[in-house]
Amino acid sequence: MHSTKRENHFKLSRAFLLVIAVIPSLGVELSVDKTCNNTDINDLCSKHETCDACIQAHWCCNFCYEKDYKGQKCNNVFARLSETENKCPEDMLEKNFDSNYTISKNKHFTGTTDFVDKDEIVQIRPQKFEIILRRGEAVNISFTYKPVANYPLELYFLGDLSSSMLPSLEYVKKLGHDLPDTLKTLSKNYKIAYGSFMDKPGMPFYFTDEENFRNPCFATTMGSCEMGYLFKHRLNFTGDTHEFDEKIQDSQVTANVDDLDGALEAILQILVCGKKIGWSENSRKIILLATDSLLHMAGDGILVGAVKRPTEECLLDDNGNHSQPFKYDYPSMEQIVTILRQKKVNIIFAVKTKKKMDYYEAMSRSLVKDYGFVGQLEEESTNILDLIKQGYNNFAEQVSFFVNLTNHEHLEVKFLADCDNTGYNETSTCYGVKNKEINFTAEIRLKDDTIMNDRYSDTIYIEEKNINETIEISISYVGNCKCQGGQKLGLNCSHGRERCGKCSCDSEWTGENCDKPCKGADLHRCRKEENGTISRICSRNGDCICGNCKCSYPYTGTYCEFKCPSIEGKICSGHGNCEDGKCFCRKEYEGESCSCSTATNNCDFDGAICSGQGKCICNQCKCEADFSGKYCELNKKNNTICEVYTSFLADTEKNETTRIKRHGIYDVLPVEKSSIEEIEGQPICEQVLFMGNYRCTHKFSYSKENTTILLPYTKYCTMTASFGGMIGGIITGVLTVLAGLLFIMIHKWRIHRQDQLEYKKFLENQGKFSDAFNPLYLSPITEYENPQSRKNYK
Ligand SMILES: *[C@@H]1O[C@H](CO)[C@@H](O)[C@H](O)[C@H]1NC(C)=O
Ligand SMILES: *[C@@H]1O[C@H](CO)[C@@H](O)[C@H](O)[C@H]1NC(C)=O
Ligand SMILES: *[C@@H]1O[C@H](CO)[C@@H](O)[C@H](O)[C@H]1NC(C)=O
Ligand SMILES: *[C@@H]1O[C@H](CO)[C@@H](O)[C@H](O)[C@H]1NC(C)=O
Ligand SMILES: *[C@@H]1O[C@H](CO)[C@@H](O)[C@H](O)[C@H]1NC(C)=O
Ligand SMILES: *[C@@H]1O[C@H](CO)[C@@H](O)[C@H](O)[C@H]1NC(C)=O
Ligand SMILES: *[C@@H]1O[C@H](CO)[C@@H](O)[C@H](O)[C@H]1NC(C)=O
Ligand SMILES: *[C@@H]1O[C@H](CO)[C@@H](O)[C@H](O)[C@H]1NC(C)=O
Ligand SMILES: *[C@@H]1O[C@H](CO)[C@@H](O)[C@H](O)[C@H]1NC(C)=O
Ligand SMILES: *[C@@H]1O[C@H](CO)[C@@H](O)[C@H](O)[C@H]1NC(C)=O
Ligand SMILES: *[C@@H]1O[C@H](CO)[C@@H](O)[C@H](O)[C@H]1NC(C)=O
Ligand SMILES: *[C@@H]1O[C@H](CO)[C@@H](O)[C@H](O)[C@H]1NC(C)=O
Repeated sequence: MHSTKRENHFKLSRAFLLVIAVIPSLGVELSVDKTCNNTDINDLCSKHETCDACIQAHWCCNFCYEKDYKGQKCNNVFARLSETENKCPEDMLEKNFDSNYTISKNKHFTGTTDFVDKDEIVQIRPQKFEIILRRGEAVNISFTYKPVANYPLELYFLGDLSSSMLPSLEYVKKLGHDLPDTLKTLSKNYKIAYGSFMDKPGMPFYFTDEENFRNPCFATTMGSCEMGYLFKHRLNFTGDTHEFDEKIQDSQVTANVDDLDGALEAILQILVCGKKIGWSENSRKIILLATDSLLHMAGDGILVGAVKRPTEECLLDDNGNHSQPFKYDYPSMEQIVTILRQKKVNIIFAVKTKKKMDYYEAMSRSLVKDYGFVGQLEEESTNILDLIKQGYNNFAEQVSFFVNLTNHEHLEVKFLADCDNTGYNETSTCYGVKNKEINFTAEIRLKDDTIMNDRYSDTIYIEEKNINETIEISISYVGNCKCQGGQKLGLNCSHGRERCGKCSCDSEWTGENCDKPCKGADLHRCRKEENGTISRICSRNGDCICGNCKCSYPYTGTYCEFKCPSIEGKICSGHGNCEDGKCFCRKEYEGESCSCSTATNNCDFDGAICSGQGKCICNQCKCEADFSGKYCELNKKNNTICEVYTSFLADTEKNETTRIKRHGIYDVLPVEKSSIEEIEGQPICEQVLFMGNYRCTHKFSYSKENTTILLPYTKYCTMTASFGGMIGGIITGVLTVLAGLLFIMIHKWRIHRQDQLEYKKFLENQGKFSDAFNPLYLSPITEYENPQSRKNYK
């Protein structure tokens, strides 16, 4: 296993290749990476005595474990090159690596028509990366998504055959060729399957007396209908639409008692019976749920005595009938969404009545969000084909990537996407994707405080939400010496083993050959003696083990006496490595605690750094004399920013339209507010505008978010002519209406907000989902409340 890793390292290390090339013929001053030519790094390397610490300190440090080597064991690769005597033999050198990546699989995109084998479809490339990662560092990898035309489509038609859906069923029966024709426009490679559901066949959802049970329509005008059932899978996936037509013609409606149905349970079976039903591995998978009822959810099963949490076991018999309707409770929405996500399936909810549609919309917004699409079905389902099209396009026109970091908590992954070819934004999802390429970047970081013990490698996968293609990322971590090429030196380690040219002693033993038992007296070696004063053991920041300090994070140094500056709990502000109390900042940061960004975005309001009237230091403007303000936009008389944006505000007021205005690369967005707050150190601009009979004073402030310039403003108007009295009454009336509207809008916003939070919470929990301890399941009603009470929709 190690040998393959070794090869990867060899391939990747430009530094080491050069070392090999240079050492045999010293004196040839070759272009070893200049970044290693730095005395700070020499100092840094020289402080480390063990191999692991050495290579973790900086990628320019490498370690020589030759027994008789007289120089610094841990040395800067650059300094080592200039050694003339006592060279460390090449095969006694522990190589070191900078964070970097290589692409190891990069198949071409599938063209539009040139595929036959579904397994060969490529819409994401590259398919595999190998990366080397150092603690606290990140590697950016870029990949591209390009949707292929006629990507296989599988549509499961899940019908609600309750009697109220009779007109819909009649319409679907008459569809004939129209359905295949519609599907063909979406993808020539389509397949369709069909099933129908009712509800768990027990009281109180059904009347269970003999006559009613055999024919639930016994007492209705319809006279006779099919016996009650929970779910019937009627047709496996097929490209043959005649078969579908036949099965539909065979279907009959039936009736149950309450207004809620077992659709979720049917969906669960459709998801978990993949093999039986015939879902394929590479396809866009959609369930179309046509219904006029609401959903029975986890907890409702208790009414028919079904209380166990549903598992992912397939309960369909060979005829496609749900064989054990009373074995488990209904699934929870969370369970469904989790499986939708695993199986990469989407749902179109085609809902019949407006009121119920609100319910599905609210549910979709809070939970199934990007996995669900809700559309209203006309009374007789005449628009069902349109809904299929809309739903399909909704799913096909979005692309979203994610990484499951369960068990990889030491990694962080951030996505950036160039959704519309205008530049990268921090998001993992693009909408409105047509047939073009979209570039993504993933920033993969090994967290600063990762403990490197035995951490050698990992594999993670970037997945697309709906398409079964992944990007494999094999990660090799730098931090544990492998002593490549290091034949054992044959050290005599009495109570320990040889590791990287040194004896690594068992606990309780010490000495070069691990032959000295630890004594209490060794404690004094854990105390620093300086100018006659003696420090505490390991400065109280670590444990003394046989005379050596083992420091607790984040302390470092022989006596754990150093701690790097930290800002807001982050060592070196999270922008650098800490060694012996000193921060080594990554690119783009400077300063003692690496808190100082070399970026200038905070100095630049709309193009000019500090309005050309100051300098940008640490991403903050230091203004020239006479100027002030965050962007040095102020002098005693005027404010250059106010002047520029006054005209934008005037335009907005005159123009009814709210079209976005632009200033350079910036979008200018004036937003009317009831009051504006002064933004730290920034003045409020003021302008007066005459509009008809009104004199309006506008006050506005300005701020910037990415490439949007926000202009929150207030407006205060007074009449200039004298018919104020006449209009006064009208204004009062209008204000009252406005106040009402505002109330409704705030209310709606709050509901929306709550939905978002709940969904977010769910997503956060998702990675840690455990069947037995899923708190959402245990208490579905308190933890996940339907956006509004179900009763409202009946
Ligand atoms: C290394 O850096 C020093 C000072 O920064 C410079 O004088 C010297 O030429 C550099 N050596 C090489 C080989 O680049
Ligand atoms: C990764 O390696 C390539 C050469 O293989 C080099 O051009 C690039 O600068 C390296 N990236 C980093 C972050 O070191
Ligand atoms: C990765 O890309 C992002 C955005 O372009 C950038 O902010 C970040 O510094 C990059 N990281 C590395 C390690 O190159
Ligand atoms: C994705 O494809 C792999 C094989 O490449 C298969 O094992 C897996 O079940 C598929 N996943 C889905 C959701 O179809
Ligand atoms: C679907 O296919 C499976 C075999 O893959 C078969 O056992 C089952 O009977 C079929 N179901 C229907 C409803 O045709
Ligand atoms: C980034 O996202 C914002 C808000 O979603 C959008 O207004 C802006 O245009 C995006 N920027 C780029 C460069 O795509
Ligand atoms: C995506 O990135 C590649 C290079 O990685 C570039 O050649 C291509 O033009 C980019 N495509 C778009 C649409 O920006
Ligand atoms: C010890 O003395 C040296 C020089 O005399 C001085 O630089 C250093 O700060 C002193 N250290 C302490 C801990 O007092
Ligand atoms: C505002 O100040 C700038 C810089 O001092 C000056 O160039 C400009 O003419 C001033 N504008 C007005 C209207 O006074
Ligand atoms: C309305 O706005 C548009 C674009 O912002 C602008 O071109 C037009 O001149 C404005 N009309 C008036 C009457 O100000
Ligand atoms: C601005 O960009 C940051 C990250 O770069 C993002 O979190 C934020 O939502 C963006 N804001 C807008 C308004 O686009
Ligand atoms: C993430 O992976 C773990 C195990 O590797 C798995 O149990 C879990 O279901 C996955 N989570 C998601 C949301 O896919």
